[in-house]
Amino acid sequence: MSSFNLERRIKRQVWAPEHAFFAVCAPGLEPLCARELAVLNAGDIAPEPGGVGFRGKLEIAYAANLWLRTAGRVWLRLKDFRVRRWDDLVRQAAAVPWELYVAPGAALNISVSLSASNLKHSGRVAEVVGKAAADRLKSLGLEPPIPAEPGDEQAQRLQVRGVDRRATISLDTSGAHLHKRGYRPQGGAAPLREDLAAALLMLCDYDGSGPLLDPLCGGGTLVIEAALIARHLPPGGKRSFAFEQWPSLREAAWNHMRRQAGEKALAAPPAPILGRDRNPKVVALAKDNAGRAGVSKGVKFEAADFLGKSAPAGTGLVVMNPPYGKRLGSVRQAETLAGKLGERLRDAYVGWRVGAVLYRPEWAGLLGLADATTLTAPFSGLKVSLLSGKVPSQ
Ligand SMILES: C[S@@+](CC[C@H](N)C(=O)[O-])C[C@H]1O[C@@H](n2cnc3c(N)ncnc32)[C@H](O)[C@@H]1O
Repeated sequence: MSSFNLERRIKRQVWAPEHAFFAVCAPGLEPLCARELAVLNAGDIAPEPGGVGFRGKLEIAYAANLWLRTAGRVWLRLKDFRVRRWDDLVRQAAAVPWELYVAPGAALNISVSLSASNLKHSGRVAEVVGKAAADRLKSLGLEPPIPAEPGDEQAQRLQVRGVDRRATISLDTSGAHLHKRGYRPQGGAAPLREDLAAALLMLCDYDGSGPLLDPLCGGGTLVIEAALIARHLPPGGKRSFAFEQWPSLREAAWNHMRRQAGEKALAAPPAPILGRDRNPKVVALAKDNAGRAGVSKGVKFEAADFLGKSAPAGTGLVVMNPPYGKRLGSVRQAETLAGKLGERLRDAYVGWRVGAVLYRPEWAGLLGLADATTLTAPFSGLKVSLLSGKVPSQ
């Protein structure tokens, strides 16, 4: 196939039409992820358990990867079909124009999930799809893809899902999980996942216009995610994505999108952002992480005990991720601390808004917030509560 022909087909088959996408997120975060997609002007936004479907041209997937704070991955649905017999899979897999999406010689990581599907054998499903991609590239004189080595993070992910009599073949546009923003090589003793940190801030309607304090900041995840939001910086601005390796990458549009994001970002947060922790070692780590994220400007960190230090402003938002007692100390110690945090909030933070990630939902009572709203999400084998409320005046 001539390169002219390939370019023409890329424009006609990949750039021009709308596609169906699916943004995966932690169960519980779907409404927030849908809200983010609405801001990006995605079409046909449809939350379902574990993620949000949406439609649009290729660029909407670029924007989703660059901007979604609460998603883990964005799939492009290449084929969605009815399966009556095995041949349907063979035919549909062979009909995918693989050469437009898979780079010659790419490592392919094919996962298969089947639920009450008549496809039955996941190993054979993966084989059929891998072979279809390889045959297609070979027939065009291109180097075929190879199976990925286990643990190869750079491999192009491909997913086949079979549910009842339908199957979908999807291609990963993201690469490494989107919570891996690239600013946190090590997180501290018990780092919060970045998508959950962003979700908590969104649940608190944080937009950067008022002061923010994380008094238990650890490696600084909440502070850094807050600074990204406050400065309108994309969470994915410091990392790469799987779609950048595709032969159909719309390079000019992608470069333009990133340039525009840079131009629209604020040079510093409009209001103070402060991280405190009683452990000076993690404070130093938080500073390093903020530097790597490119958000040091207007963000301060200091070593201080929350229980003894005064509030840094008259009002604002306190966000915190207190120890769970699982990775740090015991559950009893963590519960005692949650009670003390509640007392401190009532003593020194009346009128402040509070957002907290809690290991046990009943600890919300210890914080004693008014007008509280809660989301639950899985995290590190636990089901955690994201809580937002206000410190009431007694
Ligand atoms: C679960 S970690 C926070 C992790 C953080 N969100 C991150 O992503 O890295 C809890 C932190 O609370 C700090 N801490 C516990 N009690 C404190 C107190 N009384 N004052 C200040 N920091 C405290 C610990 O040193 C620890 O770094």
